[in-house]
Amino acid sequence: MTRTADAQASDPNDVAPAIEGLETIVSLSKRRGFVFPSSEIYGGINAVWDYGPLGVELKNNVKRAWWRAMVQDRDDIVGLDAGILMHPQVWVTSGHVGSFSDPLVECGSCHRRYRLDELPGAEELSVGDLADPGVIARFHLVCPNDGGPLSPPRQFNLMFQSYMGPVQDEGSIVYFRPETAQGSYVNFKNVRESSRKKIPFGIAQIGKSFRNEISPGNFVFRMREFEQMEMQYFVAPGGPPAAEAFEAWLPRRRAWYEAYGVDPARLRFREHAPDELAHYAKKAIDIEYRFPFGWKELEGVHNRGDFDLSRHAAASGQNLEYFDPATEEHFIPWIVETAAGADRAAFTFLIDAYREEEVKGEKRVSLALHPDLAPYKVAVLPLLKKRPEIVELCHRIKDDLKRDVMAVYDDTAAIGKLYRRQDEIGTPFCVTVDVDSLEDGAVTIRDRDSMTQERVSVDQVRRVILDRLAAARP
Ligand code: GAP
Repeated sequence: MTRTADAQASDPNDVAPAIEGLETIVSLSKRRGFVFPSSEIYGGINAVWDYGPLGVELKNNVKRAWWRAMVQDRDDIVGLDAGILMHPQVWVTSGHVGSFSDPLVECGSCHRRYRLDELPGAEELSVGDLADPGVIARFHLVCPNDGGPLSPPRQFNLMFQSYMGPVQDEGSIVYFRPETAQGSYVNFKNVRESSRKKIPFGIAQIGKSFRNEISPGNFVFRMREFEQMEMQYFVAPGGPPAAEAFEAWLPRRRAWYEAYGVDPARLRFREHAPDELAHYAKKAIDIEYRFPFGWKELEGVHNRGDFDLSRHAAASGQNLEYFDPATEEHFIPWIVETAAGADRAAFTFLIDAYREEEVKGEKRVSLALHPDLAPYKVAVLPLLKKRPEIVELCHRIKDDLKRDVMAVYDDTAAIGKLYRRQDEIGTPFCVTVDVDSLEDGAVTIRDRDSMTQERVSVDQVRRVILDRLAAARP
């Protein structure tokens, strides 16, 4: 399939992004330990990013929130964790070996390579144009770097490949999966038989995928190694059951981002034009977010028809039909897929939560992350670190909280600075122990967003925090 560029914002009344540019988020991520460039001491490796101590918490929380909504809260969806490496025939049958590609052009003078549909002046070209060998001359396209001549487009396959076993030849080629979906299709029979699910039912998966993207970038937006959160929903064949599932999943998936704090004004749907559809799709609608660099795909909902199961059944010789005891019919189910990126979702939550404001003449930066997504739920802080009784009480409270949530102790600055540090990483609650606490057995709970403070007895702290977290949960 040829993948076309994501839609760009062209409307002058377009909604403003949550932040102007990416620099603030990139530098906050590095400074506070959300995301680091991979292999940085060796100069980095393009389009791979490492998650630091706070980033891994955030991303795990995003995955947990997705799993809760897609598996835990539902009776009709079960989980799966298939291998990244699969039988190579999977990718031939799925169409990826033949056509999972992007149009690549190269500058004849500086030899830089570009994805054709992302060149200035080529963003709106149709799929037919992008495959036309004469497209460069027809649209007077030149290298954006030095104005040099560009080669005709050639299709560049995005799959990474390696060899399995000690012999490196054609017969030992394996691919790093470019999507998790195929693992769910080839396990359809195993999952259905073992879980005894009746149609309609779904298989959910979270895991790494790999694409040798021609033009990765915009921080973790487009990477070569990334994580997907995909769910394949199997329905009775034919248009109406798939349409019904599609219409139910599309708003449900958008509502998930909103429930975790994304401003609804910065979300929209965009339907794929017929010539833009992936080879497997009968219909596809993207949930887009208004990133600082334009409206871009956050998640796709796809009606894949019976393309995948029919092809795998034919190529493997296995019977992948479902028997419906109610109608006594055998059929290949149709599939409605919800395909999200864990990195892209975490990135979106981070951007959308970023706040700057002036408080008492000073700039306050905070991340208004939903409490379920925040890396730390609570920080326990001493007003006076020189008083051992205060420090000891802090640790007691923190250890108690740690049984249920990520809690942290910090005494490396004055209290005002400690609050700012926690605000900047999105910690929803700070518990402060002061001299009075030693007398009255009470501490202060400070709320990140309102900055209000409330006195709570020490033995109630855990209950109060857990109740507030539970109350915030969608
Ligand atoms: N199984 C269908 C599928 O893979 P997709 O639209 O190509 O569909 C689904 O990918 C989601 O995976 C995207 O909406 C995006 O969130 C994420 N994704 C895709 N390519 C990515 C990349 N190179 N870097 C980060 N996330 C990516």
